Amino acid sequence: MKFPDGFFWGAATSSHQIEGGTHNNWSVWEQSANRLAYLKEREHDPKHFISGHATKHTELFHKDFSLAKSLGHNATRLSLEWARIEPEKGQYNQKEIDHYKRILEYIRSLDIEPFLTLWHWTHPVWFDRQKGFENPDSSKLFADFAHRVGREFQDLIRFWIPLNEPIVNTFFSYVVGLFPPQQMSYFKARKVKRHLIQAHKESYKALKSVDSDSCVGISKNNIYFEGRSWNPLKKLANKKWNFSFLDAVQDDLDFVGLNYYFRIPLNRHFFHRKEWTFSDIGWPLYPEGIYHVLRDLVRYQKPIFITEHGLSDQQDVQRAQYIFETLCWVHKAISEGIDVRGYLHWSLIDNFEWILGYKPRFGLVEVDYKTQERKPRLSAKLFQKICQTNRLENRYSNYLQNIDKSLTVDSRWTSQKNDT
Ligand code: BGC
Repeated sequence: MKFPDGFFWGAATSSHQIEGGTHNNWSVWEQSANRLAYLKEREHDPKHFISGHATKHTELFHKDFSLAKSLGHNATRLSLEWARIEPEKGQYNQKEIDHYKRILEYIRSLDIEPFLTLWHWTHPVWFDRQKGFENPDSSKLFADFAHRVGREFQDLIRFWIPLNEPIVNTFFSYVVGLFPPQQMSYFKARKVKRHLIQAHKESYKALKSVDSDSCVGISKNNIYFEGRSWNPLKKLANKKWNFSFLDAVQDDLDFVGLNYYFRIPLNRHFFHRKEWTFSDIGWPLYPEGIYHVLRDLVRYQKPIFITEHGLSDQQDVQRAQYIFETLCWVHKAISEGIDVRGYLHWSLIDNFEWILGYKPRFGLVEVDYKTQERKPRLSAKLFQKICQTNRLENRYSNYLQNIDKSLTVDSRWTSQKNDT
């Protein structure tokens, strides 16, 4: 099963989850009295739920992208930490900008194509004090930031992703109240969604005004709501979760980035949970679902990149097969004419998983948080074979026999000195 020439293979990360030392709306919330009291009540050790040093990627970025290279990746997705670049309204920190330039230059020197996210759920404290995306001026403030980074990084970036998963973030922050600012207000959720739509549109225009050839997309989480097409619940869920945001921004979109994680059965399967397969944080794994959500995206007539897909699997017992099976379904979609151009696994390395802290392990590469040692998991080796050959063997078991269990990583890429 061959993939199209030039297909992008790689993995994704986000600044707050890996960099360490970020100071933004999340880091402030993680240490707020309310959050600490909540953790104490549940007898959770706060240190597992505070991002802190994270994976020290700011210092270790050479190592991390060298590993990606060594694992056969020709693309990567990373995000900028807005709070580092614009720590005070309208004041840009050139040192931080230059640091990101060094990272992007390094990625390019490895012949890896970077996809750059501008907002992966974290923003500066000053922006948060002005009520974040509840503020009617938020879209303009975000577009100013986009314009500035567009100018700074235009020679290094072709693929821009202003927003990551706006609906997921709005839902968790303003409907169920689990993410900061922990509100439960349908009214506010609608307002924030409107402002995020506007933020996407304005930042699209800002980035295009700097470089009209750049490709500006979105990372959109879509769920496979399983059920017959006439099922009213499926229709509603699809409309609200999967399509409403994309419908609103489709005229300002050069590609769709799909983040696919799981299905929600809205049919009889709902009652047969024993037959489902779960990741180790209880997410129902369903490779076939990606085929259905890809088909649903055809309506937008844009190239599609899978900008996230993965699972938490500390023992690494499910990941290889999950990647393999999912890619079989992606291949089927492509063979039916759906324009999928890349697959970026979530995640390159283990990282800080938001409210769940450090326990979930999403990385192709395992991180020992005490020593900051990186160790590619066996599944990373299977994925490496797929990336390097641009094809899937037709039997998963062939891979298992052929994977070199010693997990050696090409030393050319790991012996680089770190330069912070
Ligand atoms: C988010 C990531 C997150 C991943 C796993 C995605 O929804 O973009 O930041 O770590 O899911 O939960």
